[in-house]
Amino acid sequence: MRMRRLRRSESLRALVRETVLDPGDLIYPLFLCPGKGVRREVGSMPGVFNLSVDEAVREAEEAAKLGVGGLLLFGLPESKDEQGTGAWDENGIVQQGLRALKKSEASKKLVVIADVCLCEYTSHGHCGVIVEGREGWEVDNDPTLDLLARTAVSLAKAGADVVAPSDMMDGRVAAIRRALDKASLAQTPILSYASKFASAFYGPFREAADSAPQFGDRKSYQMDGANLREAMREIDLDLAEGADMILMKPAMPYLDVVRAARERVDVPIGAYQVSGEYSMLQAAIEKGWLDKNRAILESLVGMRRAGADFIVTYFAKEASQLLA
Ligand code: PBG
Repeated sequence: MRMRRLRRSESLRALVRETVLDPGDLIYPLFLCPGKGVRREVGSMPGVFNLSVDEAVREAEEAAKLGVGGLLLFGLPESKDEQGTGAWDENGIVQQGLRALKKSEASKKLVVIADVCLCEYTSHGHCGVIVEGREGWEVDNDPTLDLLARTAVSLAKAGADVVAPSDMMDGRVAAIRRALDKASLAQTPILSYASKFASAFYGPFREAADSAPQFGDRKSYQMDGANLREAMREIDLDLAEGADMILMKPAMPYLDVVRAARERVDVPIGAYQVSGEYSMLQAAIEKGWLDKNRAILESLVGMRRAGADFIVTYFAKEASQLLA
């Protein structure tokens, strides 16, 4: 047997290629900020910007032209407080963005997903309500559920096609599903970040979204990176609570989790190539140590091969251009 026979030309290789990447499988995260005409590059993420709503609409239109599948919206509010009230403010930054996007042509082609979390809106930077606890503080699970549910309803009302809770509180999918149904939003799907690990690779995002915790870390609510079986339990619970799709995050250091999830459940699965994965590739690319186009596509194909149906990636536009 000679395995090389089928590798002799690009047309042969294309014929026997097992995994395909399509721009429609890619979801492009956007960071919305107040103002007009604002396009502020994130220091640790070259090529990624904080965008005012008008600029975000332009960016969305470009993404739609390239065939990108969807957007994932995050917000940098005007001001923050203990509870994170900006998250469910009818005039909150993401709510404004959703209404503007809904009026644009782009939204007919893109699935507009709104991240549901409090950390961008709380003064302490944690993903839930803070009470006194073991280390002097603790994130209180159950009072947080109410706030997340309110946020999800507000985002869906403003026009989100999908809501995506990323907070990792127990029971949040059920709470959000109940609240959506009660608000006549039974048709709004939930994409839950079912297995989200407490990761160093979120570092650059916390600069992009101005959401770094002001004390402590997120290890009491996000998962320990060593645990695969626990990730499967998180997935089972989220699906039992009513999640329509699930997201695995980060992607590259956790491709075994994506594969295990794929073999376990039949719902659509996404992988999130997080900020640190982007920055690390981008840094090596800028230094000339990696070939940009090949490195981007290879990293994304790996996630599809592991079993992800779709991928959240800051390279969505570039990758779509390369695939055109
Ligand atoms: C909010 C949230 C985070 C990310 C997505 N949603 C940050 C965090 O949990 O600290 C990280 C995304 C990235 O790094 O690209 N909870």
